[in-house]
Amino acid sequence: MSERLEDIAAAMVREGQGILAADESSGTIKKRFDQINLESTADNRRDYREMLFRAEAMQDAISGVILFDETLRQSAKDGTPLAELIRAAGAVPGIKVDAGAKPLVGTKGEKITEGLDGLRERLAEYHKLGARFAKWRAVIDIPAGPSHNAIHANAHALARYAALCQEAGIVPIVEPEVIMDGADCTHDIKTCEMVTTWILKEVYQELYFAGVALEGTILKPNMIVPGQHGPKASREEVAERTVKVLKDCVPTAVPGIAFLSGGQSDEEATAHLSIMNAMGSLPWALTFSYGRALQQAALKAWGGKPENVAAAQAAFNHRARMNGLAATGRWSADLEKAA
Ligand code: 13P
Repeated sequence: MSERLEDIAAAMVREGQGILAADESSGTIKKRFDQINLESTADNRRDYREMLFRAEAMQDAISGVILFDETLRQSAKDGTPLAELIRAAGAVPGIKVDAGAKPLVGTKGEKITEGLDGLRERLAEYHKLGARFAKWRAVIDIPAGPSHNAIHANAHALARYAALCQEAGIVPIVEPEVIMDGADCTHDIKTCEMVTTWILKEVYQELYFAGVALEGTILKPNMIVPGQHGPKASREEVAERTVKVLKDCVPTAVPGIAFLSGGQSDEEATAHLSIMNAMGSLPWALTFSYGRALQQAALKAWGGKPENVAAAQAAFNHRARMNGLAATGRWSADLEKAA
């Protein structure tokens, strides 16, 4: 495969495919395994991810997989490195490189994502281990702010991260996530629209100041949705507002936008993406980079039991393929039912 950043980015958002976010940190994967009463051991984490990476839809619906540090170093039961399984399926292995969102001093509970110290050296190692793209997630918390300080600090960190990635031959996924799920997320869709516009404007300004080549980046934003406990919005309104904000904020030099699911239901995340792609021609590829919305059904079907691997893979194949269709605007609720 070509090592040019723009070629890697183009492969990550190729038509009808999207990215599997399987980069849950140790704490997050423990929470997921708690839901199925499974202990979070290194072997169980490996078995779960191996099950996903060997699923058939990896070949036709998944263009890249975001891994956690541990997974990039793990091998399948037969000794094949997990990153090799991903490459063999035709997908690009990627790596989460941020060190998590920490409380930002001087704010009322806002967060700043850490992980810049030593990042240049870590990226060089990840490149040797086979990663060709990376992810850094900034968290923008509406109930706790947002303050100019938090927006600016997070955008600045994203830009420093992105520039270091490109220096290392790695495509940065730039992820500023305006959070929708949480007990105090009572905001409406217009507030999400306003805050998302603000952070995206700031992010593209900082990327410019940092000398980042947009052709070799992927944006991973939230969709424009109301908070979990806010006034509901129709699927069409979500799609329309999201496309409007992206057109206003994301330069056309960016090859692709891959959404996070952020707490939407599996079907909502698929439906929203499909409606956007059916709206007509857009200046960038619009696809998915889902964690929960791709994995929830598979995790439940698996339940940590080897005898459920085929059922879990079938659940994963289905979700991945539904989202693959959504990435070209061809998903429908009937297809969902027909499965
Ligand atoms: P969700 O799709 O579960 O939001 O996860 C995507 C992700 O990678 C968040 O950083």
